[in-house]
Amino acid sequence: MSKLLALVTLLAFLAGHVAAQQEGPYVCFNGWLRLPTLNPQLCRSRPRIQPRRLNPRGEGLSYGYYNNNSTYCPSAERIIKDAVTKAVTAYPGIGAGLIRLFFHDCFVRGCDASVLLTTTATGNRDVEREGPPNKDSLRGFEVIDEAKAAIEKACPGVVSCADVVAYAARDASSVLSNGRINIRMAGGRLDGRESFANETDQLPGPFSNLTQLEESFYNQGLSSDEMVTLSGAHTIGRGRCNLFSDRFGDMDPALAAKLRAQCSDSNNFVNQDDVTPNALDKQYYRNVIDKKVLFNSDAVLSSVAEVTENANSATIWERKFEQAMENMGKIGVKTRATGDQDVEIRRVCSRVN
Ligand code: HEM
Repeated sequence: MSKLLALVTLLAFLAGHVAAQQEGPYVCFNGWLRLPTLNPQLCRSRPRIQPRRLNPRGEGLSYGYYNNNSTYCPSAERIIKDAVTKAVTAYPGIGAGLIRLFFHDCFVRGCDASVLLTTTATGNRDVEREGPPNKDSLRGFEVIDEAKAAIEKACPGVVSCADVVAYAARDASSVLSNGRINIRMAGGRLDGRESFANETDQLPGPFSNLTQLEESFYNQGLSSDEMVTLSGAHTIGRGRCNLFSDRFGDMDPALAAKLRAQCSDSNNFVNQDDVTPNALDKQYYRNVIDKKVLFNSDAVLSSVAEVTENANSATIWERKFEQAMENMGKIGVKTRATGDQDVEIRRVCSRVN
């Protein structure tokens, strides 16, 4: 009799559990919902509003970090700059990739190079790189690997992959802006040892509305102003047709016609900025006003006053972009000062030591 009771209790528990999972409010790659690669396995329920991070302070980071005695590798920043300059000069799209890599690293588990891992401390292979926003989309990994390999030769075990990603984004910004954008990027990040594809749902998506965009930045401790400023990075690089082809009717007609032709295959990529595709400049804001942007997440910014301000003054936007990139580089950092446990300086950026 008691066994029967236990069985009934167990069945009731399991039934309730399954129902809760099915009914729960799913925040499943918000803004990325229409991605064809969406894997239901990645679609776990999580709370809609995550606790807000404090304004990122970057405790333990400092400028010229690798010029210090205990973390001495004075050639590190030059090695990265040389590798980035060579790659971006040959192919500007890689510079766009490096800037986005930094954003996608920092928004998921903080700037800890978790975006670079292909396998983790627990042997997980369903890593951030496999998440819908990243898979078949992120690029620039080989530049990070090349720079890191050269640094390891010069000073083994000193420079983190997270810092290589941050410096590479800084240097790509400088090259693509023709020296107009100079980010003061501090160093001292340590590398994480875990990475999960489902956590990439913290990244805003191309179908996001203004509230969702503001919320995702707010959750990282960044302001709405910084969200608008950083979105200016969509003045370089590329976007995939299936992420905006429902919007042709809302675009400037001449651009829409051109994009329609370029999008004969929905997997094709097109330039984000049709006017100055490879220049990190304020053109993005003019494009928002002129309905010449690709994504819904770009178009919804047209109601924001700062867009007009940025469209009218290169200097205003450039200084704000430098500051916002520096702030983004402070999100959730693990440093020698923060006492995080599961950290290291990876020897090879794609795998834990
Ligand atoms: C505000 C929310 C944002 C959304 C919804 C968003 C979304 C996207 C999407 C959908 C793409 C195209 C990906 C593809 O088709 O493969 C893209 C590309 C890009 N994004 Fe964002 N993004 C946002 C913010 C940012 C920020 C903050 C940065 C950096 C500061 C950034 C930098 C870039 C760059 C440079 C590219 C081009 C990448 C390449 O050509 O490889 N984005 N973004």
